[in-house]
This record gives sequence, C-alpha cells and structure tokens, in this order.
Amino acid sequence: MSKNHQKVVLIGDGAVGSSYAFAMVQQGLAEEFAIIDINKDRIHGDALDLEDATPFTSPKLVYDADYDTCGDADLVVITAGVPQKPGETRIELVDKNLKIMKSVVDPIMASGFDGIFLVAANPVDILTYAVQKFSGFPKNKVVGSGTSLDSARLRVALAKKFGVASPDVMANMMAEHGDTEFAAYSSATIGGKPLLEMAKEAGVTDEELLQIEDDVRHKAYEIINTKGATYYGVATCLMRISRAILRDQNAVLPVGAPMNGEYGLEDIYIGTPAVINASGVARVIEVPLNEREQKAMADSAKALKKVATNGLA
Ligand code: 2OP
Repeated sequence: MSKNHQKVVLIGDGAVGSSYAFAMVQQGLAEEFAIIDINKDRIHGDALDLEDATPFTSPKLVYDADYDTCGDADLVVITAGVPQKPGETRIELVDKNLKIMKSVVDPIMASGFDGIFLVAANPVDILTYAVQKFSGFPKNKVVGSGTSLDSARLRVALAKKFGVASPDVMANMMAEHGDTEFAAYSSATIGGKPLLEMAKEAGVTDEELLQIEDDVRHKAYEIINTKGATYYGVATCLMRISRAILRDQNAVLPVGAPMNGEYGLEDIYIGTPAVINASGVARVIEVPLNEREQKAMADSAKALKKVATNGLA
C-alpha cells in the first residue's frame, strides 16, 4: 500500500462520520475520500462542503458515492449505526447495529474490496468481530476503534491530575469499549516513570485513581446527556488509526484487536495496544496486567462473548 494515491471510503455520514471526514480533509491524509450513507442529500451536501476546504489542505478528491467505489479502496471506515440515546448502554444497540453492519458489509464485499476495515459503531467490539465474520477477511485486516477513545480520555484525566501534557501520559484503558473496561494503571508511565510511583509521591490515593477510571468509563454518558452525542474525540482517534494504516507507521495504538491467545483469549476483539500498519493489526502488544487488571480483562471478555454469542447466533 505504498502507492501515492490512497483512497478511503467512509460508510455512515452521521455526527461521527462527518467529524471524521472533516478531520481527514484537515490532515490531507488520503488523496481520494468517498462518503456513503443512506441519506443521499446529506452526503452530497457534505461532499460539496468538504471539497471547499481542500484548497487549504492538500490535493484531495472528496465525493459522495455508492458501494461500487469500495472496490479499489485502501481503507473503509464504518461509522454507520444507531447511536446511543441518553441513558442507553452501548450493548443495548447490538441487535439493530448488527443488522446495519450486515447490510453494509455485503455490498462492500460485492465491490471486490480488499483493503482494511476500520469499525467504529457501537457496541464496537461486537461489531468489529461481526465485520470480520461477515467479510471473511483475515482477522488482522479488520480493526476496531476499541478503547482508543477511552485511552485518550484517561490520558486527559491523568494529565490534569498530575499537571503534565496529555500527549506525555502513556496509559491505556483496556477491554470492552464500554461499561466493563478498566484502566491499566500498573503499566502506565509519565516520562518513563511508573504512574503508580508518581501517584505515591504526589499523594494521589488508589481511591482517586479508581475515581478517574470510573469518570472515564462514564464520560460518554456525560457528553451524551448534555449535547446528545460524542463525535470529535472518536473522530480524531479514527483519524489517528487511519494515519497509522495509510502511512504504514507501525504505530502502537490502543484499538479493538483480534485475540490469538493473548491475555488467554481467543475468538474475540477487545481493547488493547497493538502495532498498526498497512496490514491492519500487525501484532498485539500484550501488556503485563496485575491481578486486579487480569480479572477485569477476563470478566470483560466474558461479558462480550456472551453478547457476541447471543447476537450472532
Ligand atoms: C463514546 O464513548 C459513545 O462510544 C461513544 O463516546
């Protein structure tokens, strides 16, 4: 995929999709950017609006499209799906969004698509797993947004707590992108120093760290309760993962990755750091977990498997 002309197709032009499209145009990442949605007026308007930004970014073709256009795409990003309403969990969306996923993956595959899938509709771990099953692709070619956004939220919260810049906090939220996720504090560092050591020195208690973890877990609800949806954070995470794929970066990012024995797990997509390049998930970075984190990982995987088994039966 080191060709000069790269093509990305976005499926789903809602709040997340259109924010992602804007981020991609701003970054000038792909030479060709196509948008597909059932709302034809919306994608036509968005394509026209976004192309007006291209004189200030980089040469880029932005247009509304049909599924045929996926045939020679490098990357297809799926944000299509029903979003959460206030008070609703991500898991509660599973039945509706599995149907939508099937209805978009079938025509994408019929187009002859052979690039990388990036999945961002909820419940994202289940839907990523479903896209791999529906497409029949090798597992590495299907990437989920996983806990990318949650990890960004954790870095923001820890940065505030410790008075450092958020890009300098290395910390991951792991497991389900949802209510059973956890903060992998035992491996978190700031400037190479273990976060737990820094916490001790700064007088930050375990209770405070657990409160931060809980706040991160609930941040989406807080945003949805106020403005109805979350989109800028996740759109930027998707842009970052897209860059790693399109630029073949070997970037280590928290994503939704397929398990092949890591953490004792198989046949599931779950949030963990992984090496991301032009082949998708090149390999999983298996983070050492302490006892609490191991249990949280196992419990979260169990909860996800139950939903996947019921939903895809
Ligand atoms: C988020 O975490 C709703 O999954 C979305 O912002």
